[in-house]
Amino acid sequence: MEGRVGPIAVIGALEEEIDLVNAALCDRRTEWAGEYRFDFGTIAGTDVVVAHSFMGMANSAAATALAVARFGAGAVLSIGTAGAHNPALHTGDIVLGSRTVNDNSHMTAHRDRGSGSDVGAWEVMGNEVGVCGSPELRIEFFCDAGMLAAAQAVPYGGGRLVVGTVASGDVWNKEIDRIDALHRGRGSDCEDMETFSVAQTCWQLGRVPWLGVRIVSNSEHFPDEVFDVSVAQKCQAFALDVIAALA
Ligand code: 5AD
Repeated sequence: MEGRVGPIAVIGALEEEIDLVNAALCDRRTEWAGEYRFDFGTIAGTDVVVAHSFMGMANSAAATALAVARFGAGAVLSIGTAGAHNPALHTGDIVLGSRTVNDNSHMTAHRDRGSGSDVGAWEVMGNEVGVCGSPELRIEFFCDAGMLAAAQAVPYGGGRLVVGTVASGDVWNKEIDRIDALHRGRGSDCEDMETFSVAQTCWQLGRVPWLGVRIVSNSEHFPDEVFDVSVAQKCQAFALDVIAALA
């Protein structure tokens, strides 16, 4: 983050996760890259580009790649909602995603026809990235320390503010045994569908600094905590303060 060049990119999947940030853009202008909409402007005097990525790993990777490679973003925030894995978290709590793991990347053991599937026995495979041009498998990515420190210093009154691990995948887990296995086995505090692919793209495009800012919008641990997208407003209000802190 030291000496950042270029705008701060904000990647959000749902309109409800970026509308407040877009409304805060001074001198807002819009540019399209196919179906991906990018809104440009300044917040607290710093250049910001907001991507409407749509949901999921491929979409968020594509939107991040465009934000960095086409629009020159020098730092990336993955913002939006998430489901709790950590039973201590409740709706409205914000997880500063300092680490992210991929819930899509598995190799299963061989099983004979008719012997069914056992997700508990699936091995984590890792995702291929380049390290000086050579392929390496990575099972996790870590955020930028400076962005995390800046975000940790931002006050948040809407719930708890914790630092944690975001598990991402094109999957919405509702089986509590599966959620517990991810929490215990991979250290995840919450799950979304974007943060890992944002982080992987940042790695591939020159170790661009990134941070996850994800608000808990649902928890299978508590039956009344069903998906509430309205909490994305609190996440965005916090993200605006983080942007101002980074400016
Ligand atoms: N599992 C997966 N994605 C979730 N999201 C919110 N809660 C969850 C959950 N429990 C986020 C994703 C996606 C959208 C459906 O909301 O990141 O963009």
